[in-house]
Amino acid sequence: MAPFIVFEGIDGSGKSTTIHEISQRLSARGIAVESLREPTEKTDASREIRRILRTVREVTPQISKELLDLFFIDRLWDINNQIIPSLRAGKVVLLDRYFFSTAAYQADSDARAHEIVATYLADDRIILPELIIFLNLPVDEALRRVGTRRELDVFETETRLNAIAARYNSIFSALPQHKKTVAVDERRGVLTAQDFEELSARIAALVVAQKK
Ligand code: TYD
Repeated sequence: MAPFIVFEGIDGSGKSTTIHEISQRLSARGIAVESLREPTEKTDASREIRRILRTVREVTPQISKELLDLFFIDRLWDINNQIIPSLRAGKVVLLDRYFFSTAAYQADSDARAHEIVATYLADDRIILPELIIFLNLPVDEALRRVGTRRELDVFETETRLNAIAARYNSIFSALPQHKKTVAVDERRGVLTAQDFEELSARIAALVVAQKK
């Protein structure tokens, strides 16, 4: 199977741009790539997720629980119908958000976030990525980017994104396989062509290693 790469970070952190840049560089090296995202937009669960994120004003514990279940359903579908088939076909999968998002967004404390990660890690239906690329952009800068692009969803306020960013940092520093996580620190505000080149080279090396 080809390597499975996950991108995480708050809204506006540059996941989709980074995926696009890496995808082009891998293709130029002759490596087959499939770019995917969660929520998938392809299941009833994902459509219900979108509806909720656009319409609620407050994420109550009840809504968080509902989102937790819906993301799980959508994710299992994604794994079985898109991720695993692509990896089996020899394509590197670049996934925009995985269960670390669920832990960062659906938890109301760090302890709860760690519990959600532990539940996913213990479930043998959930496949684990070879590499997690965590885009760690300051919240004010991320919000500035998102605000000019489109309407904001319920999580996209400064207070909520600050809590989510803190949770991501807590999750990735505690992750047992943390060596697999590259934290791209975007304090400079932008990723450069050299950053994309380095990340692509790292993924290309994983492709070579897995072929052996
Ligand atoms: P996002 O990829 O940011 O979509 P968009 O490009 O439209 O902003 O994801 C949509 C929202 O879903 C985002 O606010 C984060 C949230 N989310 C969760 O709350 N839990 C999850 O498990 C995932 C994957 C996303």
